[in-house]
Amino acid sequence: MGLLYRPRRLRGTPLLREMVRETRIGKSALIYPVFVKEGHGVKEEIPSMPGQYRYSPDTLGFAVEEAQQAGVNSLLLFGLPACKDETGSGAWDEKGVVQQALRAVKRDFPQVYCIGDVCLCEYTSHGHCGLLKGEQVDNDSTLPLLAKTALAQVQAGADMVAPSDMMDGHIRAIREVLDGNGFSHIPIMGYSAKYASHFYGPFREAAGSAPAFGDRKSYQMDYHNRREAIKEAALDVEEGADILMVKPALAYLDVIRDVSQAFDLPLAAYSVSGEYAMIKAAAAAGYLDEEALVCETAVSVFRAGAQILITYYAKELARFLDEGRIG
Ligand code: PBG
Repeated sequence: MGLLYRPRRLRGTPLLREMVRETRIGKSALIYPVFVKEGHGVKEEIPSMPGQYRYSPDTLGFAVEEAQQAGVNSLLLFGLPACKDETGSGAWDEKGVVQQALRAVKRDFPQVYCIGDVCLCEYTSHGHCGLLKGEQVDNDSTLPLLAKTALAQVQAGADMVAPSDMMDGHIRAIREVLDGNGFSHIPIMGYSAKYASHFYGPFREAAGSAPAFGDRKSYQMDYHNRREAIKEAALDVEEGADILMVKPALAYLDVIRDVSQAFDLPLAAYSVSGEYAMIKAAAAAGYLDEEALVCETAVSVFRAGAQILITYYAKELARFLDEGRIG
């Protein structure tokens, strides 16, 4: 057999396979999403997300410590307020739950990088991500509220803000308000291509943020669309986003690829609650090996072109990196 090319030559030993790896991941690329609930002494497990909890601002430190011990130093914070109203005023209240959490984390763990998720759906009585006019979510009157929310988070210590509301023009509105208040150095991570996805189900249970009527299809993207993701990302770039994001991750690897090739900005992918729940459930049923699946799916996201992964499995992935299972 005069074969000139034998790809198997480079697969002979673990060391060699590692040497020729095309995808390399570091722990600094992992962001851990955490739910913070108004109250004291809270640590409640989220039923559809076994192993994930709601913490109150005073217990959140335990979660931060665990993350830090694993080598995960970046958090994305979501809030569950005690009361909701029509406008979602808890989102920008200086004593709002995420603002309390930010102050607590920055006081006790100043080196931990805190990203505030900017959206109204966890704070509105109707569960939509913006202000309602009739049954419609009104874009332009929502923008100042999102900007106020981002500002309140940054004033409480957020190192970065990440608007997930999918209103048009939100990056610009937030950028202007941050700049006008002396925060021109704070980066914005846009949820650039956020699809109207069924994979958010467990999150909405966790955050109590399911819309009271209708769905989010008038602002989140239709999953039939690929080129539209480029349009959304281009608008984010124009409006001054510093990092782009595709969300969810696993069912959208093609979109991650496209956006990573089209833009120079760092690209994050959000492996969402349903992706976590799916792996957990399959593992609990004994159908699949949880650890192996977590490794394979995470690597696929980086291989597709993301540089940053937001995942509920951040701590476990950090351990797998330490153990050399992936790298
Ligand atoms: C808020 C928001 C959602 C998620 C992140 N930010 C829910 C939604 O849009 O309904 C989902 C995250 C996840 O499923 O893990 N708008």
